[in-house]
Amino acid sequence: MDEETLLEIVKEYGVERPLFIIDHNKIRENYQRFNKNLPRVQAYYAIKANSEPAIIETLFKEGASFDVASIAEFLLVYDLIETWTKPESDFYIWDKIIFSNTIKPATTLKALKKYKPLVTYDNIDELHKIKKFCDTAGLILRLKVPDTGSMVEMGGKFGASPAEAVDLIKAAIDNGLNVEGLSFHVGSQCTNFRNYVDALVICSSIFKEIERYGLKIGRLDNGNKILDMGGGFPTSYTDEVPAFETLAEIINSELDRLFKGDYEIIAEPGRFIIGDAALNISRIQGRSRRDSKRFYYINDGVYHTFSGVVFDHCVYHFRTFSKDKDKGNIEVCTVAGPTCDSFDKISTSEQLPGELEIGDLLIADKVGAYTTASSTNFNGIPGAIIININT
Ligand SMILES: Cc1ncc(COP(=O)(O)O)c(C=O)c1O
Repeated sequence: MDEETLLEIVKEYGVERPLFIIDHNKIRENYQRFNKNLPRVQAYYAIKANSEPAIIETLFKEGASFDVASIAEFLLVYDLIETWTKPESDFYIWDKIIFSNTIKPATTLKALKKYKPLVTYDNIDELHKIKKFCDTAGLILRLKVPDTGSMVEMGGKFGASPAEAVDLIKAAIDNGLNVEGLSFHVGSQCTNFRNYVDALVICSSIFKEIERYGLKIGRLDNGNKILDMGGGFPTSYTDEVPAFETLAEIINSELDRLFKGDYEIIAEPGRFIIGDAALNISRIQGRSRRDSKRFYYINDGVYHTFSGVVFDHCVYHFRTFSKDKDKGNIEVCTVAGPTCDSFDKISTSEQLPGELEIGDLLIADKVGAYTTASSTNFNGIPGAIIININT
């Protein structure tokens, strides 16, 4: 997004509230890059990364499917798709939505029952809950796989151990439920591509074991076994992130080696699709020197757009508009948020000009994922205005 466009947006919306600008050309570019490099894989965009309805619309038009984690997310996607597909209204739910939160409240399962959803599970108690409240569901067993080096690890909370897999599938079948396949998540922002290889090898050996035990799994409509590779595909926060093309090459060769025939491969990318497709503009509304260090207090913070500092283990960086770049020498500065919590510091080591003024603006790039999605209203301060461009 060039400065001229950004300044026009600033003129239109003002900067009393921070601005969160989503570039839909970039979303399309990311989705197409994913598709082109992983031709066997259908992307189910993980809307938890950013559930702005305009993003869902752009991706739906591109041919994406969706991963949801709550009944609210499910209904958001379902209702939108239903609107766009009317009057036919004939989309097949498993092709468009996966509910991949392995732990679901009973009320959610009851509400899902009429939709015959595709859901994940990873333990016996969840299986019994599904049997009781949503026996129309198709099941995917989520496995714990290595997540070494990923920015956000998943294995500590989710996934059955591979040793339990066959028993959990047998238990589902014995309960009269249908198991469609396996899933995993290598951890978010996974730059250790070995994790994907290990996960694919684990899944392949479990599919073989299932066959050896004579257990029948696969989609009810076409018999295909689903392999869901989850998310983790890294976005380009820094130059050091290895290229997606390299990862895709590794995955493709493992898919060809291990998953020939009646497998349907899906994935749930979140960050890769939206991470670098949005930026944030905030306003400096106070400044100070504390122990000679420059502090800028802006109108956005860790309780708002930059919630990823807390929940996503993410580091964000700031830059100025070019007209402000010579306002003092570059110094190591703290950029802090607007609330009364001293924890509300987005960065304590930003390289910025030391004499920016109250009213000047800061830009933070690549803030699309896990930011506004977990923004709060703490201190009664509203979050950023969401602006969609190039829709
Ligand atoms: C089950 C599941 N799928 C997909 C994702 C998206 O992951 P990412 O943003 O790393 O692609 C997440 C993220 O938390 C997840 O929990």
